[in-house]
Amino acid sequence: MTYNFDQEISRTKTGSIKWDWFGDDVLPMWVADMDFQAPPQVLNALQSHVTHGIFGYGVPQKALSETICARMADQYNWQVTPEQIVFLPGLVCGVNLVCRAYGEPSSGVLVQTPIYPPFLSAPSNQGQVLQTADLALVDKGATIGYEIDFAAFEAAITKQTKLFILCHPHNPTGVSYSVDDLTRMAEICARHGVIICSDEIHCDLLLDGTSHVPMAAVSPEISQNCITLMAPSKTFNIPGLGCSFAIVQNPDLLTQLNQARDGIVPWVNVLGLTAAQAAYDECDPWLADLRDYLTANRNFLTSYITEKLPSLRPTHPNATYLTWIDCRQSGIEDNPHKFFLEHGKVALNDGTAFGKAGEGFVRLNFGCPRSQLEEALDRMQTALKIV
Ligand SMILES: Cc1ncc(COP(=O)(O)O)c(C=O)c1O
Repeated sequence: MTYNFDQEISRTKTGSIKWDWFGDDVLPMWVADMDFQAPPQVLNALQSHVTHGIFGYGVPQKALSETICARMADQYNWQVTPEQIVFLPGLVCGVNLVCRAYGEPSSGVLVQTPIYPPFLSAPSNQGQVLQTADLALVDKGATIGYEIDFAAFEAAITKQTKLFILCHPHNPTGVSYSVDDLTRMAEICARHGVIICSDEIHCDLLLDGTSHVPMAAVSPEISQNCITLMAPSKTFNIPGLGCSFAIVQNPDLLTQLNQARDGIVPWVNVLGLTAAQAAYDECDPWLADLRDYLTANRNFLTSYITEKLPSLRPTHPNATYLTWIDCRQSGIEDNPHKFFLEHGKVALNDGTAFGKAGEGFVRLNFGCPRSQLEEALDRMQTALKIV
């Protein structure tokens, strides 16, 4: 491995939500950013920009759009043109924007729960109605998995449903969906006239050699009914720089999205654009090492929990750096997030924020040096001794 992901770098007092939210005695394993430096090539590009010293209003350069198109063609055999790309300052913004663009007051928006919390609030932010379909939990003995319950998915769609917001790979379950799953979801949406927005922010964070297929790349028909949201932000650990984008191949949907963003969505800042260009141009070898490191962290985590914390049942994700842990058989009577915070001084995400299906669960971010991951698990083990 060329790059060193074992190095611990203090992030306290750096304005990080993850590290500054709780007390200094708490080990934060919650917010989905990684405790690794961004790739050196990104740091060099940012340093050159800072040395230049002018941070005026930016405009996405044609080169970046072309880079994104080439990446889509190379990685997914998906032909995209620069005109089909809409730059956005963030994907939470994108998820809210699609509700605004394609719905009206009282339109229904479908999501699959448990789910990344901003998906749950985006519809009501626009005066629309949240509709949920639970994913099916699969008991795998020491671990758990999730599958799509297609009957529940279709049953959740009503005449009001305008939009389905898919999370692929899925946060928090860490599932990267197969072409078969994508096709079945798309067929159901097409049958009911439901537009798909596919949030694929985790598309590069693939473990064990898993491959990603964008929903819109499955077929030209699906692409005409789909808005894809992507970003280099999670992949290269630059989310605070706020550079992301939508790909919209249906001209009518593109016009509607651009109209909805007018006047309220700012352009991406110049440092975000600089970082994105360097990341996509130069950092795939870093990404290959990152995937290996995250895969080893995932394996370490599953073994640790299986051997030393058997009352917890984690997912064994094939994408993302997130593990979703079922604490319902642990004997913890309190909310498990609160329990581990109070008794272990470790901050995990509270499963209840991911919808009702998240009650009794926590989410753990393993995008950190192995030593930090081990420390967090040791703290959880100590906390569980009092149960
Ligand atoms: C599925 C998903 N979408 C969007 C985001 C956040 O995107 P952004 O920081 O670009 O708003 C996250 C962050 O965890 C996420 O998991």
